[in-house]
Amino acid sequence: MTDYRIALIPGDGIGREVTPAACAVLDAVGARHGIAFTYDEFDWSCARYRALGAMMPDDGLSRIRRHDAIFLGAVGDPSVPDHVSLWGLLIPIRRGFRQYVNLRPVKVFEGVESPVRRAVAGEVDLVVVRENVEGEYSEIGGRLGRGFPEEMAVQEAVFTRAGVTRVADYAFSLAASRRNRLTSATKSNGIVHTLPFWDELVAEVGTSYPDVTWDAEHIDALCAKVVLDPARFDVIVASNLFGDILSDLTAAVAGSIGIAPAANINPEREFPSMFEPVHGSAPDIAGRGIANPLGAVWTAAMLLDHLGHPEAAKEIEQAMAAVLAKTPIRTPDLGGSATTEAFTKTILEFLGM
Ligand code: NAD
Ligand code: IPM
Ligand code: MN
Repeated sequence: MTDYRIALIPGDGIGREVTPAACAVLDAVGARHGIAFTYDEFDWSCARYRALGAMMPDDGLSRIRRHDAIFLGAVGDPSVPDHVSLWGLLIPIRRGFRQYVNLRPVKVFEGVESPVRRAVAGEVDLVVVRENVEGEYSEIGGRLGRGFPEEMAVQEAVFTRAGVTRVADYAFSLAASRRNRLTSATKSNGIVHTLPFWDELVAEVGTSYPDVTWDAEHIDALCAKVVLDPARFDVIVASNLFGDILSDLTAAVAGSIGIAPAANINPEREFPSMFEPVHGSAPDIAGRGIANPLGAVWTAAMLLDHLGHPEAAKEIEQAMAAVLAKTPIRTPDLGGSATTEAFTKTILEFLGM
């Protein structure tokens, strides 16, 4: 039996509703593969912030740094400003544990209606590789002159040689293990300093991957192409903000943001990686028990894959695909009327539980 310790942070809103689905699926598949999970649950959230004045304790990172992986539902609540909840929990984990790759795969599943006519099931299979610790999400800047007519907010985008090179290298290497096609999201026609540098570094890395065919697309045009012809993409490497926007867009192309998974990876494995669905806490539907658990379930599969169990991960993906293809059971975001619980139960049935 292989034992893993998972730091579980359900967070807020639907994060708390979809996390049990991920754990149930991990336990079910694990049992068949001789893998056991121990979950250490942390109440780090906006509720904690309201009660104690901090999203997590001061020594939060050291409490989870020896876990095998972190699973996070979502954070954010209308009662706490987003910059407080995010800079108080999510962003410190991504940065503190050098999770500089954010992997966001997208597939169009049979049985899911995409709003995009050309998004055919089985044909759309891409991964957004999002730079996850620098770029537009920098800590350099601030608000100046509060209350004055000249008031301003400034934030510097920070692109470093090391930071861009390592994420580009990860993306090329991923493309080399898939269909050998890579697209770099850029905007070198409009932003004078940063993205021409990004382009240069991506090109440098590309010389080490002669089998990978790659091109650079301006982010605005790329958004249009992703909608018009999503099947042409394999790996898309993008800066922090571009990758954030692109990954909600590609999730929508696949039918719902509720399906999309994500893995914040520390490739060197000096720190635990963090697994969280792409979606947020969805205050508009929280508490109603109708959140789509598939994003969290697919994220659980990414966790298994990362821990070295690709066959177990594949079983989860196959069960997801089978439920969608063979039953009408799905949550409202996919046009059904099932609850989170009923949908999860069906997935577990297809896993043979
Ligand atoms: P969101 O992803 O929470 O919601 C966007 C829309 O998608 C909403 O209409 C929501 O109902 C729907 N949706 C999302 N997930 C769904 C699911 N699993 N099933 C069905 N429908 C789903 O994005 P938002 O509204 O921009 O943000 C809400 C809060 O979440 C904010 O506080 C934000 O900062 C936070 N947030 C957190 C994370 C994270 O923790 N990783 C990610 C994104 C947003
Ligand atoms: C995501 C989210 C976060 C991000 C926010 C909540 C800070 O949108 O994980 O995609 O932009 O990274
Ligand atoms: Mn996002």
